[in-house]
Amino acid sequence: MLGLLLVTLPLALAVESDVLNICMNGTHQKVKPGPEGQLFKQCEPWRDNACCTANTSVHAHNDQSKLYTFNWNHCGIMTKKCKKHFIQDTCFYECSPNLGPWIQQVGQSWRDERILHVPICKADCEEWWRDCQHDYTCKQDWHYGWDWSTGTNQCPLDSKCRPFGDVFPTARDLCEKVWSNSYRFTDSSHCMSLWFKAGLTPKTNQDVALHYALQMGLISCSGLAWPSLLLLGLSLLLSPSLSLS
Ligand SMILES: *[C@@H]1O[C@H](CO)[C@@H](O)[C@H](O)[C@H]1NC(C)=O
Ligand SMILES: *[C@@H]1O[C@H](CO)[C@@H](O)[C@H](O)[C@H]1NC(C)=O
Repeated sequence: MLGLLLVTLPLALAVESDVLNICMNGTHQKVKPGPEGQLFKQCEPWRDNACCTANTSVHAHNDQSKLYTFNWNHCGIMTKKCKKHFIQDTCFYECSPNLGPWIQQVGQSWRDERILHVPICKADCEEWWRDCQHDYTCKQDWHYGWDWSTGTNQCPLDSKCRPFGDVFPTARDLCEKVWSNSYRFTDSSHCMSLWFKAGLTPKTNQDVALHYALQMGLISCSGLAWPSLLLLGLSLLLSPSLSLS
C-alpha cells in the first residue's frame, strides 16, 4: 500500500506540473523551467523559475537583438518609454513558465509552438499603449507582412509610418493585434501581469494560470486534490510507525 502511494504521488504531481510549469517549444526557450540567478534587468523577476537563459535575457534588451533580429526602430527610433514595454513583453514571452494553458502547436519555420489569447491585465496594456501612442509604426500585425530582404524587418512598400495611436486606436488593439492575438485584453482580475509592481510576483501569474487551467478543463479539481490527499494518507500511514519506534 505504501509502495503504491510512493509510486502514484510523483505521477499525480507530474500531470499537474505539465500545464502549470512548462516552457513552450519556441525558438529560444529552455526545455524545462528552472532557476536562473543571472537574469538581466527587466527579465529579473523570473529568476526563481524561468524558461529563458541569462543569455536570452541580455539579448532581449538589445535593438535588432540576435533573438529574432527584430527592428523596433522601423519608423524612426522608438522612444525609451515605449521600448521598455516591448522589452518586458519579450521577457514575459521568453521567461514565463506559466503560459501552459495558452500554448498552441503551430509548426512554423521558426517555432513549433506559440501562445494564443493569454489574458493580459488591462492596466499593463493601457500603460503600454499610453507610453507608445506618440511613437510611429507602419503595421498593426508585427508577426506577418514585413520586408525581411535586408535580414531585419522593414516597412513593406505599400505601408506608411503613422502614430501608434492611429494604427492601434485602443489599448486593446495594441495588446491583441500586435502579435496576432498572442494576448487577449481583459478587465478581469484573473489576468497575467507583464510587470510586477505593488507586491505582484510571478507567483501571481502562476495562480492565474491555475485558475484558467481549471476553467479550461486542462486539469481537474480531483487532479489537484490528489497530491494533498496522498500526502495526508502518507502522513497517516507513517505516523503510527513513527510513534512505535
Ligand atoms: C546567446 O544567445 C544568442 C541568441 O540566441 C545566440 O546566438 C548565442 O549563441 C548565445 N550565446 C551563448 C554563449 O549561449
Ligand atoms: C520542438 O519542435 C521541434 C520542431 O520545430 C521538434 O523537432 C522537437 O522535437 C520539439 N521538441 C520537443 C521537446 O517537443
